[in-house]
Amino acid sequence: MQTNKSLNISNGLIQIKDLSKYYSNGRIRAVDELRLTIHQGETFGLLGPNGAGKTTTLRLLNGLIKPTNGTASINGFDILKDAQQVKSICGLLAESPGVHAKLSAFEFLELMGALYGLRKNELKTRINELLTFFDLSDRKNDLIEGFSTGMRQKVLLASAIIHNPEVIFLDEPTAGLDPRAARTVKELVKSMSERGKTILISSHRLPVVEELCDRIGIIHKGQLIAVGTITDIKEQTQTKTLEEAFIAITGGNPSSSSLPWRA
Ligand SMILES: Nc1ncnc2c1ncn2[C@@H]1O[C@H](COP(=O)(O)OP(=O)(O)O)[C@@H](O)[C@H]1O
Ligand SMILES: [Mg+2]
Repeated sequence: MQTNKSLNISNGLIQIKDLSKYYSNGRIRAVDELRLTIHQGETFGLLGPNGAGKTTTLRLLNGLIKPTNGTASINGFDILKDAQQVKSICGLLAESPGVHAKLSAFEFLELMGALYGLRKNELKTRINELLTFFDLSDRKNDLIEGFSTGMRQKVLLASAIIHNPEVIFLDEPTAGLDPRAARTVKELVKSMSERGKTILISSHRLPVVEELCDRIGIIHKGQLIAVGTITDIKEQTQTKTLEEAFIAITGGNPSSSSLPWRA
């Protein structure tokens, strides 16, 4: 972490200011004036149905696509102007990334670490540590093409955190995983959180955010329509479960001003 700007975090580590991404001349509002602050050390869940704008939000924050309007900063670094610094302090598990299937797990992680400028010895130690955590040590020299979905996801997760980032973005991290692999992912999130990392998880699955997140934001049609703890959201919607709240919110009109806790 760079220290010269680390004093700028008092109002939140991730500050998203009216961030928008439109496609097809504005016909598709993938992300629509998103305004949100995520605090240092927080695990925040971006929850929303398919097509809500979750992946687009994470891609914007990681500089993979450019906003139509608005901006965001991470630890004081502007996602557009300071893209390189943002990259160095953030790790992203993308939704459907390409994997170099013809590389072994170790080689793939070596490549990813080298892209982040990690030195050879330090990198080797780090890779072995990660492979042990993910229970992949005995498969480290096998080609990724022979890996199951769960094993690939573990390798991708390892690559997302190889440079020990302060901020971790996980896009649908447990999608397609069996319960055991999903548990490993959740354990990783918890252990990263215990180490003070700031984590933003996107998911359309309620149990994932319910178990892991300090606060959640419900996103629907590109708009953030509720932000708070799960208890807050249940209280405000007068529902007993997050599932009921989610349906009540996403079934209604997201621009309704009758929702007092609207972001
Ligand atoms: N490159 C693109 N071109 C056109 N529309 C896009 C593009 N990327 C995303 N969208 C649209 O933006 C909306 C949000 O997509 P996405 O962020 O992938 O949602 P989520 O991850 O919540 O399922 C969807 O309507 C999707 O079709
Ligand atoms: Mg998505």
